[in-house]
Amino acid sequence: MKQSVTCDPRTGSHDRGPTPYFHGRSDILAGFARTLSDVRATGGGMVRLIYGAPGSGKTALLHECKNAADSKGFDSFYITVPSLWEADNLREIMGQDGEYSSSESTHQVGLKGIYTWARKRVRSKTSVKRLLRESSKPLLLILDEVQSIGNKDILRPQHKAKVTELLELIHNGKIGRPIILLTAGLGSALTALKTLDISRFGEKNTSEIGSLSMEDARAVIRDWLVRDGMARGDTSEWVNIIAKESGVWPRHVHSYSVHASKHLKSRDGVMTAEGLQEIIAKGKEGRIGYYMERLSDFYVDEIKHLAKYLRKTSAGGVFDCLDVLKSLTKIYGDKKATDLFDRLLEEGVIAAKGGDGYHIPIDSMHTWLVDTYTKGKSKGHDAHRKALYDDPTQKALPPVKKDDPSQIKEKDSDPARKRGRDGHYLHGGKHHSEANPKGHNNHLSIQPLTQSVVNTPTCKLKW
Ligand SMILES: Nc1ncnc2c1ncn2[C@@H]1O[C@H](COP(=O)(O)OP(=O)(O)OP(=O)(O)O)[C@@H](O)[C@H]1O
Ligand SMILES: [Mg+2]
Repeated sequence: MKQSVTCDPRTGSHDRGPTPYFHGRSDILAGFARTLSDVRATGGGMVRLIYGAPGSGKTALLHECKNAADSKGFDSFYITVPSLWEADNLREIMGQDGEYSSSESTHQVGLKGIYTWARKRVRSKTSVKRLLRESSKPLLLILDEVQSIGNKDILRPQHKAKVTELLELIHNGKIGRPIILLTAGLGSALTALKTLDISRFGEKNTSEIGSLSMEDARAVIRDWLVRDGMARGDTSEWVNIIAKESGVWPRHVHSYSVHASKHLKSRDGVMTAEGLQEIIAKGKEGRIGYYMERLSDFYVDEIKHLAKYLRKTSAGGVFDCLDVLKSLTKIYGDKKATDLFDRLLEEGVIAAKGGDGYHIPIDSMHTWLVDTYTKGKSKGHDAHRKALYDDPTQKALPPVKKDDPSQIKEKDSDPARKRGRDGHYLHGGKHHSEANPKGHNNHLSIQPLTQSVVNTPTCKLKW
């Protein structure tokens, strides 16, 4: 598989986002290349969704799609949810390269030097639709974390009709230029987009991503060892062991590989058995840290009850939503069980599995949940939550008695619930990565998912 040459290798040291050593997802990339050609040839449009649990590689894949579009002569921009209805916001994003400049505001002010100032002061009267029609050049708009569209504090009811209309126009090729809106998000993005009622938007426009194939995971690890870490000698044993330990989950593959590469760099590329042990230990620590972070919005008793239920299924196995809800309802009652199920979905702890039911999208996390929370190893969970929330802006959570359902707080009044990943414009207009550098999960009153899910006898997220 090709290497992403435009990606700065330095970005590879982070656990999220683009990578210099991208492998796999060839079906999706081939499909996307066909879409680029079709849309270009017909002058039509398309809305696409890539969804998957945290760390499955959505953002990295978007970056590869962007590279593909750029090489085919598309203009491409990362947009935000508000730019679907705020023309000034979209103009700001698309105007960065000098195109799509605001003729309206420059004419009114007439001075190049204060153009930016003017653009901020004089709200253009144009609409997003009109702005998109200003050029006929093929265009790719990329919208990551699209599940926030289901958040009523972000997409307010008064903007919903506009957004639906725009998405309809794009998807039905009625903008008047070749255009693709490529979105990515957690599984809840499916439901969120569904609420917008885009016609003809169905399964063929969506792709779920999860683990890498063993072969692709090996290729990623090999690149990190050889190209980045300058490993000397035969890397097969290291590659095989690291691939197995990582559970071929993209984020874990990445973090084990980065540890390995750093280790090799500091030892002139020499591979030793002790070195490998050290890397495995560090990788495991990171893997567990990641699981704990995924669970940071939950109380230990909630996870214990989920884990108890999960014992019924083997890692990777599918379970029925009514069944898991029945089991949670016995403990928490109807409303809290439904709320818990929704939050597990929102956080990507559980995910819909191809319309058949639900699963824990990371096999090794399933095993870890069962081992940790049904075998008395969960000590430290609440301390970990507290540590995650212990920053100057968020006071520590009140203590919770473990295993006592009566101690479950109303989560909507929980300050921790106001943190997270979902919105680009939470925290007073800041992008979440600035406002929340740790990348913890926030969600502000996300629409309940299970109202529709529970009412459907099969509990399937169907279009
Ligand atoms: N196909 C791949 N090949 C190599 N590395 C990958 C691949 N997919 C993902 N990665 C790496 O794994 C890590 C996690 O990927 P990424 O941040 O894209 O996941 P995500 O699904 O967007 O996660 P989140 O939901 O937390 O935003 C990143 O460092 C990324 O570079
Ligand atoms: Mg991402």
